[in-house]
Amino acid sequence: MAGKMLERVHSLRRPAQFGGGGEDDAEDAGDESKTRKHMSVVMRATNYLTRTLPGGGCLCPLFLVLSFLLLLFVTSLVIRSRCSVCVGSSAYDPVSRMRFFGYEDPDSDFGSLGVPWCRSKHGKTVEWTSKDLLKGLEEFVPIYETRPIKNNMYGMGFDHSFGLWFVARWLKPDLMIESGAFKGHSTWVLRQAMPDKPIVSLSPRHPEKYLKKGPAYVDGNCTYLAGKEFVDFGSLNWGSVMKKHGITDLSRVLVFFDDHQNELKRLKQALKAGFRHLVFEDNYDTGTGDHYSLRQICDQFYIRGGGHSCFKDSDEARIRSRRKNFWEKAVDIKELCGPGEAWWGVRGHMRDDFNHSNKAITYTEHFQNSRFVESVLDVYWELPPVAGPSLTHQNRYDPARAPTPIVEDGRFGLFQRLGLTGLENSVFNGYTQMVYLQISAQKS
Ligand SMILES: C[S@@+](CC[C@H](N)C(=O)[O-])C[C@H]1O[C@@H](n2cnc3c(N)ncnc32)[C@H](O)[C@@H]1O
Repeated sequence: MAGKMLERVHSLRRPAQFGGGGEDDAEDAGDESKTRKHMSVVMRATNYLTRTLPGGGCLCPLFLVLSFLLLLFVTSLVIRSRCSVCVGSSAYDPVSRMRFFGYEDPDSDFGSLGVPWCRSKHGKTVEWTSKDLLKGLEEFVPIYETRPIKNNMYGMGFDHSFGLWFVARWLKPDLMIESGAFKGHSTWVLRQAMPDKPIVSLSPRHPEKYLKKGPAYVDGNCTYLAGKEFVDFGSLNWGSVMKKHGITDLSRVLVFFDDHQNELKRLKQALKAGFRHLVFEDNYDTGTGDHYSLRQICDQFYIRGGGHSCFKDSDEARIRSRRKNFWEKAVDIKELCGPGEAWWGVRGHMRDDFNHSNKAITYTEHFQNSRFVESVLDVYWELPPVAGPSLTHQNRYDPARAPTPIVEDGRFGLFQRLGLTGLENSVFNGYTQMVYLQISAQKS
């Protein structure tokens, strides 16, 4: 049984872009072909000289000098053309580094290690299309440029700001709830999506506290349950909060979580309160992050890219260890697997509350968690990255575990037209698979 499962995992993992000869072969072949190409230029020059020289190919001293000079000229041209590639692409640009190592098509690289996702009850999906996302981007870039907190380190960057704004604008909720405000950037994003709707914001520290030190955002139509008034999302009497805001239909409420709490715990609390629309900012991949996420929960053997083998001599292990050279957040098998070959969650642990709690769980418990999630899910939608790494120059998240970006690699014209070239590279470094969920309790 275990053997069969392993076999299936191996065959599912075989990435399309690698040839049958394995990665090392591909690398060698690439270098060899370069050498061959250069040799043939020299050969061709020599052949040409010998064919065209008077005397039917007699290499007398003058012509030997001439051919040597020509050879020098051709070699310098080759070297210069190779160096212009080096100058044009930063040594830290993962895409150019990947090309150097023989990964020719970074575009097809997206999702090559599989993109785990949660199955919904009836296979329903979102209404919006990639065209809608592109239109949204066009509208959002100039809005983002006016953000009050320009450097939002430890908070959301561009991708997730866009995702939250887009979902809020599409759903047009009557009330927005936010758990985890920090300096208030996400409150500002929600406000841009719905200028006249109330917000309830829960955060241990009030965003106004940050104003003393620098930029922060405090909203005029937001009820802050922060500082001394802070109440955790799971302990609040939501019935009375809804009554206060005149909300009778809970499907008109959007809840946004950026509080680094176990997402299974938050999902259960949201279900209990009767909310239907949730966004989780940090939907961490298996083996990463400081809390148990939906993506981790649904990382199961029956999902492409789900379930993992801790076998060191496997395709997955080899690919993962190579990818660590390119992507800061890529995880190799050693990091992925804890004692007893526990790969689920983070090394077999269910993390919570910024990793202040870290509880070991069995695979059976982990599997049951995924069954529970699937039983209450109506829609699961992961925000794709905004653009490919050759455009954004991000070098953190591994595209092999992410869906195809909205603006694909190679589409520089579109990237520029959308105004994305005007943003600093650092704002594209925070992608962690933000997810939108539509949920409803199971009918008994
Ligand atoms: C990553 S920051 C939020 C970033 C913010 N959403 C933004 O976009 O800039 C996480 C925030 O969650 C807050 N936090 C910690 N525990 C929390 C809890 N139980 N409920 C709500 N917020 C919590 C932290 O104080 C911190 O402000």
